[in-house]
Amino acid sequence: MKFFVDTADTEAIRELADGGLVDGVTTNPSLVARTGRDFFEVIREICTITSGPVSAEVAATDAETMLAEGRRLAEIASNIAVKVPLTMDGLKACRSLADDGIMVNVTLCFSPSQAILAAKAGAAFVSPFVGRLDDISTDGMTLIEDIVQIYDNYDAFRTEVLVASIRHPRHIVDAAKIGADVCTVPPDVLRKIARHPLTDKGLEAFIADWAKTGQSIL
Ligand code: G3P
Repeated sequence: MKFFVDTADTEAIRELADGGLVDGVTTNPSLVARTGRDFFEVIREICTITSGPVSAEVAATDAETMLAEGRRLAEIASNIAVKVPLTMDGLKACRSLADDGIMVNVTLCFSPSQAILAAKAGAAFVSPFVGRLDDISTDGMTLIEDIVQIYDNYDAFRTEVLVASIRHPRHIVDAAKIGADVCTVPPDVLRKIARHPLTDKGLEAFIADWAKTGQSIL
């Protein structure tokens, strides 16, 4: 499973990339706005931190302008994945961008039927938002199960399932058990999955017992 980091915070991306945990990055207009920085400057910097796909989202809602914006975003770096919303206009722009050889991440997916359209439009990634479905008492992971099952039925569907809107480590485990291709994870959740109290307790005991031997390895 690939881990993308779901943030536009370049310091957080650097820290996690140094730990070998970053296979790519996803941003969205809200995450970029939160930085208070210039959009193109942030995206350019992220593209220098990771060679993996970096999702940068269009701002327009009509196909023609999304296409123009997508082409401009794709010029930033070779690892840009242009993000478009899962609307009829977004799918139209996706088809044209994919035909131009540009990676597209179709985002704001909330149903299996939407995911079928994303695959048919040639998307490199589809981003189903599990957390936002959970937030309205719907089981977001059922959507992931449905999409993975549907995509596995058709060789022509080359779109990777990029599980998004992740709220906690359980989402990552469940997505991996289902066989999703990617999880895009907020930095604080990514830091959490490494932690376990029994690991801390066991390590503390090992260190204490080793100290008693009075030996050293170096
Ligand atoms: O960036 C796409 C998605 O991961 C955002 O999720 O629900 O935390 O805003 P959310």
